[in-house]
Amino acid sequence: MQKKIVVGNLKMNPVSVVEFERYLDALEKELKGKEFEKTEIVVCPPVVFLQKLLNRDIKNIKAGVQDVFWEYQGAFTGQISAGMVKSAGATFAIVGHSERRKYFGENEEIINLKLKAILKNGLNAILCIGESAEERKKGQTSQVLKKQLKGCLAEIAPGKLEYISIAYEPIWAVGTDKIPTSDEILEAKIIIKKALAEMYFVKSAEKMRLLYGGSVKSNCAEQVCLDPAMDGVLVGRESLMPYEFVKIAILIDEN
Ligand code: 13P
Repeated sequence: MQKKIVVGNLKMNPVSVVEFERYLDALEKELKGKEFEKTEIVVCPPVVFLQKLLNRDIKNIKAGVQDVFWEYQGAFTGQISAGMVKSAGATFAIVGHSERRKYFGENEEIINLKLKAILKNGLNAILCIGESAEERKKGQTSQVLKKQLKGCLAEIAPGKLEYISIAYEPIWAVGTDKIPTSDEILEAKIIIKKALAEMYFVKSAEKMRLLYGGSVKSNCAEQVCLDPAMDGVLVGRESLMPYEFVKIAILIDEN
């Protein structure tokens, strides 16, 4: 049985090294004396702060990044490779986030290349998928999720699936304080499981953890994670508040 997983995506926050150090102080304080038997906790800061996080070596905290580039090295100004991330000591990488699709034009082909680089370099991937409000309204949720899964997971061998967590992040729930009902998450979960079963043997597909992301708070952890029996959550804004973030992790670990 894989552990559950709570991932904090700090996005482009906080705004300075000083503030990040303060954040780490608070996180360390919140985690003091707490044990997490069944849950991994991952923090994905902006890459410039990654080493600060790793140097603290906070008990129960693993480090990840929010993106990687697919090439190994070379003339790719501004990019960071999965190998670099691995060698720095991080163990997770988010890939395919809807904000990267929106602002940087990432599509399934690009996400697939990045995912392959992540796995090749021995990192764990958190692959984000999700429909827009418009697509949901038009009844296209199932079709969209299937297309994203097929494209993103193209040529990924079954043996690699245990290193991938799928985060179902409906775009309309990201940063909006709107959350799906437990039933809607359960429906998405079934769509995802069915799509995966078409692509792989069920036994291999079941090795992937399935997370929910989008406006997760401690007061809705039950609705978005525990009720629909998801394997964890991907947290945005609330992960910037150590007290709330740790509260979410405790709730998930204890249930
Ligand atoms: P919020 O939790 O701020 O809605 O962000 C969700 C998200 O995009 C996590 O990756």
